[in-house]
Amino acid sequence: MSTRNLVLVAALILTIATSGLCAAAAGDAALGTHPYSSFDKDEDCAECHNDLYQQHKQGMMSQSYTHAWDEIEYFELALPHSLIEEKVAGIKAGCNGCHAPLAFLAGDIPPKPPAENTRANEGVSCDLCHSIVGFEGEVPFNFNFRVEPGDVQQGVRSGTESMYHEIQPNPFLMSAEFCGTCHNEKDPWGLWVKATHLEWKESPQAKGGIVCQDCHMPPAAGNSAPDGGGLEHPDVRQHLFHGAHDDGKLAGSVEVRIHPSAREVQAGGSITLQATVVNAKAGHMIPTGSAEERVVWLHVEAEDAKGNRYSLPVDRKGFEGEEMTIASSEAMAYQDIGDIQGTEGFEGLRRDGDVPDGARIYRLPYLDPQGRMTVAQWNTAAFGTDYRLAPLQARNETYSWTLPEQLEAGPVTVIATVWYSRLVSSVASYLGVPEEETTPIKMAQHQTTFMVVGP
Ligand code: HEC
Ligand code: HEC
Ligand code: HEC
Ligand code: HEC
Ligand code: HEC
Repeated sequence: MSTRNLVLVAALILTIATSGLCAAAAGDAALGTHPYSSFDKDEDCAECHNDLYQQHKQGMMSQSYTHAWDEIEYFELALPHSLIEEKVAGIKAGCNGCHAPLAFLAGDIPPKPPAENTRANEGVSCDLCHSIVGFEGEVPFNFNFRVEPGDVQQGVRSGTESMYHEIQPNPFLMSAEFCGTCHNEKDPWGLWVKATHLEWKESPQAKGGIVCQDCHMPPAAGNSAPDGGGLEHPDVRQHLFHGAHDDGKLAGSVEVRIHPSAREVQAGGSITLQATVVNAKAGHMIPTGSAEERVVWLHVEAEDAKGNRYSLPVDRKGFEGEEMTIASSEAMAYQDIGDIQGTEGFEGLRRDGDVPDGARIYRLPYLDPQGRMTVAQWNTAAFGTDYRLAPLQARNETYSWTLPEQLEAGPVTVIATVWYSRLVSSVASYLGVPEEETTPIKMAQHQTTFMVVGP
């Protein structure tokens, strides 16, 4: 066990032993327990910690309330729904427990829209995270962190000093559970609609002692407060928090390989291609977290000697619920958007957006109380079959192709591509969500060839 881990274990025991003494309210019970003025602004921290500030500002957590899609989903779907449906009334405040924690803690519910520029806009801020001392209960979820704002910043090192604040080394910050307080979510039906930390717990990475921070906060040599009298360290934790909104993070996190069953085939004959897709880089499912709205798919296309393209549909495996994992331009879903918004005669939107017919989709279908697919995780009463990519898991897909009789003799190139879209395109265009939220991003690609020989 490394020194870092030893310190972690020793101090965790201490935290657990003392946590009963001064238990601050957590989760729903923390609503309205701390005015906005309890927390410093990120700009105050930037005076000394400018580099970390610039990193965090680029990440999604500083935009967790102001980001366009968050605003649309809260104000146009979740908030109106909470007012007409008793079962989900709690989300009016609850969404903010993670997305606008300062507003939640201040009891400013519902917060004003981002354009009003209130302190809700600060999102998951420096002082919020560094005031978290632990969490309540056995499992971290639904913002059940305990905060103790004030002069003390929760940190990770002993022997460092700051003139601006006190430093409390707290190993909780080095744990995956710290992140789990917001990256696990249980909805009003008691379902785990976000389970990044729970998925991680089952992963080979977790068994090897690799936590969220290792992949999302990589260390770099430097001084986190050069103008404030800070010390040099070889391993200052960067605050990049790069995830699904970083195309570079997505690229290569999945691998794909494809090969044909034969290298020579006659026109009109048949061939089988096998593709293997692996979640090579993430310590949780791909997609994880907001899995209700992400679309990850494998598209296989062939190109003949003349440049004609053929989109190949994946072979069916025959498991239960498989139809929801194969793209179909005829399948409709998301009818609950119409129910929530009171749109008469709303028949839903294309379930798979612009994903080409026959492509394999790696997804966990979220089903509303009527069994229709939904992007409203709070309105999820059941799940379909989980056909995502677990950490280091390989999924194999076959493509049986009977070649057209008239196919030109010569080489055929087969290209397998794994694409990622942050939000299903049909929902994005219906609700007016900016394009970057839906533009497909290439995660991985591979190609192979075989020859078509004359009859
Ligand atoms: C006047 C300068 C100054 C300001 C303003 C400031 N800090 Fe610091 N902070 C420091 C210094 C100096 C250190 C020690 C860095 C070192 O030597 O590693 C430090 C360390 C820290 C640590 C790390 C403790 C550890 O050892 O792990 C955290 C966390 C922290 N600050 C958070 C904040 C937050 C959050 C804010 C804004 C609310 C803030 N700081 C504002 C100067 C400042
Ligand atoms: C999402 C929660 C979160 C936010 C937001 C956040 N931090 Fe941190 N910060 C952490 C965690 C977790 C660590 C410790 C990671 C570890 O060492 O494993 C940390 C470490 C630090 C350290 C010590 C770095 C080191 O290794 O010496 C400083 C200083 C710091 N944060 C300051 C800030 C400042 C300033 C901001 C805002 C610009 C900020 N943090 C925003 C979670 C957060
Ligand atoms: C106080 C709640 C909270 C805590 C604690 C927290 N997160 Fe987050 N995190 C969020 C929210 C809310 C978002 C969604 C931001 C948005 O609206 O796009 C998010 C987004 C992210 C993203 C970006 C995902 C994307 O789509 O690009 C990453 C990566 C991330 N968090 C990692 C972490 C890690 C690692 C930790 C622990 C060190 C952590 N978070 C702790 C609330 C939290
Ligand atoms: C072994 C490295 C690794 C570990 C450990 C890890 N992640 Fe990730 N994470 C990734 C990679 C790579 C991606 C990009 C691919 C993707 O979106 O899944 C990612 C993506 C994410 C996203 C964006 C997912 C989405 O689709 O919106 C979030 C949020 C996130 N991670 C949070 C966490 C949290 C919280 C933990 C700990 C419980 C964690 N990660 C542990 C590597 C890791
Ligand atoms: C337990 C904490 C938590 C709660 C409660 C919560 N969220 Fe989130 N939300 C997150 C995290 C963490 C992410 C990022 C997950 C990821 O990228 O994998 C996220 C992502 C999102 C996204 C996608 C952001 C993007 O840019 O892709 C939207 C939109 C969103 N949440 C809206 C809501 C709404 C509306 C509610 C209330 C019904 C809500 N959230 C409740 C933690 C929470």
